[in-house]
Amino acid sequence: MSPDTLTPSPLTAVTTAFGVDIGGSGIKGAPVDLATGQFAAERVRIPTPQPATPAAVAQTVKELLDTFEVPATMPVGVTFPAVVHHGVARSAANVDDTWIGTNIEDVLGQALGRGIHAVNDADAAGYAEVRYGAAAGTRGVVLVVTLGTGIGTTLIADGRLVPNFELGHLEIDGVDAESRAAESAREREDLSWEDWALRLQRYFGVLEDLLWPDLIVVGGGVSKHAEKFLPLLHLRAPIVPARLLNAAGIVGAAALAARAAQKAWTA
Ligand code: BGC
Repeated sequence: MSPDTLTPSPLTAVTTAFGVDIGGSGIKGAPVDLATGQFAAERVRIPTPQPATPAAVAQTVKELLDTFEVPATMPVGVTFPAVVHHGVARSAANVDDTWIGTNIEDVLGQALGRGIHAVNDADAAGYAEVRYGAAAGTRGVVLVVTLGTGIGTTLIADGRLVPNFELGHLEIDGVDAESRAAESAREREDLSWEDWALRLQRYFGVLEDLLWPDLIVVGGGVSKHAEKFLPLLHLRAPIVPARLLNAAGIVGAAALAARAAQKAWTA
């Protein structure tokens, strides 16, 4: 694919970008108004194919984009729930192993016949919260932690994001932290909110001692029940629920794709 098909024209100011959120059970997408961080059209969700191999996921993402009229020049951002190192999936804690080493941008780009920008799911969610959500306007270091099947983490300092901050896999008390503290562990072990909060206290306590964030934002689907567990945590930094909830991945992917396109023009 030539660079011309990858990069939107610099002559048109980007006001809308398209975001796709690839999750274990659903692949969701919508165009996003970049001024407000709101969906510019209703979101569409298609179940994730099983097994979720690169070829199968690429076809589903194509099906999703085909339901919208996405102009060729509109940046398209895609989240992926693993390390995304310069477009290439480098881990697969909660996705099909065949993704490891796959260039997500090439595989999806070829299926779609256009360029896309791939990012880690927590990076997208974190960027969305800092730009439009719970951390908007916060100066200093913001730590965003998504609690879901796995634990996603992102660190944003004065608006600059450090990609692939994989602190969900910190080894704490001899185990991979996400195996004890993710939302999936609460469900799997049928933990009470209080018992789960004890595990979160340990996890966030370690993170806080290492990173000294000014604000902690907690995302993932369970953040809509934040009142059940956040008040049980005692940390130095304020800890608040995410605001964009399940829109964060789509919104952040779109915004990061627009940002990458801007950078490409000015490089
Ligand atoms: C993965 C991260 C991802 C997180 C949330 C973890 O298991 O290693 O890359 O952000 O799950 O999906």
